[in-house]
Order: sequence, then C-alpha cells, then structure tokens
Amino acid sequence: MPKWLENAVFYEIYPQSYYDSNGDGIGDLQGIIEKLPYIKELGCNALWINPIYDSPFMDAGYDVRDHKKVAPRYGTLDDVKELLSTAHDMGIKVLFDLVPGHTSDQNEWFLQSKKAEKNDYTDTYIFTKSVWDAPPQYRLMCGICERDGNYLVNYFSSQPALNYGFYDITHPAWQMPSDCDAAKNTVELIKDIMRYWMDLGVDGFRVDMADSLVKNDDEKIATSKIWAGIREMMDKDYPECALVSEWCNPQRSINDGGFHMDFYLDHYGNGYSTLFRYLVDGENKSFFSDSAKGDLSTFLSEYNVNYPATKDNGYICFMTNNHDMPRATFYMSEEMIKLSHTFMMTMPGVPFVYYGDEIGMRYQTDLVSKEGGFSRTGSRTPMQWDSSKNLGFSTADESKLYLPVDKSDDAPTVENNIGRKGSIYENLKTLIALRHEYEDLRNGSDFELVHAEKGDNLFIYKRGEFTVYFNVSKEKKEVKLKNVGEIVFMLGDYEINGETLILDGRNAVIIKG
Ligand code: GLC
Ligand code: CA
Repeated sequence: MPKWLENAVFYEIYPQSYYDSNGDGIGDLQGIIEKLPYIKELGCNALWINPIYDSPFMDAGYDVRDHKKVAPRYGTLDDVKELLSTAHDMGIKVLFDLVPGHTSDQNEWFLQSKKAEKNDYTDTYIFTKSVWDAPPQYRLMCGICERDGNYLVNYFSSQPALNYGFYDITHPAWQMPSDCDAAKNTVELIKDIMRYWMDLGVDGFRVDMADSLVKNDDEKIATSKIWAGIREMMDKDYPECALVSEWCNPQRSINDGGFHMDFYLDHYGNGYSTLFRYLVDGENKSFFSDSAKGDLSTFLSEYNVNYPATKDNGYICFMTNNHDMPRATFYMSEEMIKLSHTFMMTMPGVPFVYYGDEIGMRYQTDLVSKEGGFSRTGSRTPMQWDSSKNLGFSTADESKLYLPVDKSDDAPTVENNIGRKGSIYENLKTLIALRHEYEDLRNGSDFELVHAEKGDNLFIYKRGEFTVYFNVSKEKKEVKLKNVGEIVFMLGDYEINGETLILDGRNAVIIKG
C-alpha cells in the first residue's frame, strides 16, 4: 500500500474546463501546471485528471482513440512530463484516467477487429458469429462493418467493449471464456498502457467502469481476478502507484480486486445518495439537506459493514461530486455544503474534491449537451477564477469557449471566495488543513458511531481523541458532551453548559481531547 495515500486529499480536474493557457477556448495541460500552486494552497496533494488521450470526444475522452497519444487540444507529451515533474516537486501526485472496458470505435485496435479477414485484433472486441446473430439482451451494433457479426458496446454506440471473455457462457458460438488467450491478451494490452504512463511518472489511475470487464459475471468473480493480477504487477513494479475504482462495491473492489481505493458513488437510494442527493418526488430527503427530512440509516447500514470489512486493505472514497452528476449546489445550500464537507474531510478513507466545488460552483441547466455530456454537461463548465473576461478561464471570444461560463451576476469565483470568512473555500481549506494536521482525523483511527437516531437530525462520531458533532436542523439542539477539550473547528455558534453542548442550527463542531 503506497504510504502517501494515508494523507492524500485529491482534486479532480476536468481538463477541458480548468484553465485555458493559450486562449483557444479550451483548458489544457499548461493551464493545469499554472494552477498547481492554487491547488496546493487549498491543501490538495493529489490530482485525478479525466482522460487527456487522443479521442474523437464522443464521450468527453472516455472514448480513447490512441491510448499513448495526448489529445493535441490539451498539449503534448512534453507538457505531460512537465506537469508530472512540477507536480512532484510540489509534493502533488497525479492519477490519470484509465478506460479499460472499451475504446473509441476509431481506435486502431477496433479498426483492425472489424475487418473481415482475421488478424491480431480479431478477438480483441466482442463480435457475434454472424450479423443474423443478435440476442436482444446484449447491446449490439448491428450490420455496420465488413466483418460478418455484430459487436457489443459498453456505453455509447461509439464505445465497443473490449473482450475480457464471459463468466457465464450463454452463447457458446461467440462468447469466449475469461481465461482464454484472447481475453488474456486484452489484459496485456491494458497493462502495457498502464506501464507506459507509470514509466513516465504517472502515480496511478482512476479506473473507469472497473467492474465492466468480464461479461455475464454478476458476482464479479472473473473481473476481480483480473484486477488482482494487475495489483500484483503494481506491487512488484510500481509499489508507489495507486488505483481507485469506479465500482462502488468496496468488498469486491478492494478485497477481491486489490484496488487501493473505491469510490462511494451516487447510486439513487444508496448510502451516498441518502446522505447528500436523495430527491423523492422532488422533495429532498437526504440527511445533509435544508429540509432536514433525511436520516442516516441507509448510509450506516452500508458503511458499518463495508468499512470494517475493507479498512485493513484499502480506502473508501467520499467525493464532493464528480463529472457525472449534478453539482452539490443543485441539492444543498451553502451552509449544508459546508456541513457535508465537514463530514467528508473527517471520515476515514481518501476524500476527493471536484474542481469548482471548493467555491460552490453551480450546476448549469439548459445547456446543450457537449461531447456526450447530456445531463452531465452542467457540471462540466469552466472553472470560475475571477471577475475578468470569461471569469478568468480563457481570453478567447465567448463564442469559442468549450462551454459557457456561469453568467449569473453573483457567480462564485476563486477571487470572491478566498479570504472571505465563512466562504465554502475557506471552510474547506480549514478542514483539509485539520486532516493533514491530525492523523486521527484521516486514517489514524477508526470511525466510531456515537449517535444517529432517525428524526433528530444529529450525528455524532468519534475519530480517536476527536468527536465530531453535527446538527443539520434549523433549530438549536442540546447534546451530551462526549469530550471536554479543545474546540478545533466550528461552523456556527455553540455553548457548553456543564456536560451539555448546545449547538446552533446547521452547525458542526469538532472537539479534541
Ligand atoms: C464512467 C465515466 C463517464 C463515462 C463512462 C463511459 O462512468 O465517469 O464519464 O461516460 O464511464 O466510459
Ligand atoms: Ca487551450
């Protein structure tokens, strides 16, 4: 296990929208390099950058055309090297995005695979035996290539699934077992790409749709086995590199697959969703919501099982948001966001901050879909730096921007957040600093539930010698003090009266000792 993960706080960058260094309207690698001091100042010491590879951008780069080539719009391989060395000099690790399940339909491997004559890539993707063979339970693209067969896609139509074989073989005419040579060869192709970037200095990968590899593998037995093999390679040759999975099943991902980290994703009605984003018939029923109508039961029923089962092997990752879902501001007020950050930065695991969430950027509605973003587009708009042209994102004409910037008069920016007492930014920065200062608040001690009862809007837990108290309701609440010590953090006012802590509404307090 790489030691640096223990104290890592990640920052996710959607490169298109971070900072445009050359005025062509789209963010780029030099732009990220320029903003590293800003990221460092916030307290983040690791980055996850969404795909920067050559791509036709039918899915914002998750459709990779050439895994070893940098998309010219972001820069060159030299820019990658400069980014890595600059970041490393500043103590910042860099994870790239690995898309192992599929490629673009313009990838050279696929162009070979769809040819009629047999070649080295014939079995790199999944084709049915003939074009008349199209079982409806599979997502197949039919009748569009020279080769007599239909191919399986993973996500959009332009993303053919790579062949890692099938666990349950239901159509033996074309489904191969997951331990066949062709499937093993696909694993080698992916390992080769991983090695390429790690040899250049990349510190690991966020793995896209990590559970998608082997088909008809409901229990993910064969898929986990592939990842366990990849973890062996990492331990042997890249022991300081890390993998985080887009999976949301830590027992499978971490324990079976050997991932160092697994994301707690927003799946409607699950623990993450009911904490932050649970809309029921338009009404917000999440725990961290202004309506204060939620509770912690779903979250705790998952976490109390998954956390103890995986804590010795890896980390569960809380994220403020990512590029696939509406921004937190769509669900929560500024006050509630600050409470949610207090939670995320004081839980075990490794937290991830999505660019712009540190200043409360808003989810933009009514945007035309960009590069396969659809409803996700509104969370992918340019970073808002200051009050200058295009909010400091780019000097290009507005019409040339990758996506429009937030046009509201009161658009949050870095400039109007920094130094303002009580801003989301200042609050998050304080919390990250506490996490770096105290081992107990990160992974040095266990999560111990002290209080969570349906309906009272309170949440109290211990982390070693610290106790974290939340009151998410509007009203003042009294709780029994668990520890009398130094107040290291507070969001609002509180009073201590003997053994009682009186918390103002929408408040969080952290007490040490
Ligand atoms: C993941 C990515 C998402 C992408 C999809 C297909 O969910 O986060 O952005 O569209 O995989 O690769
Ligand atoms: Ca640019």
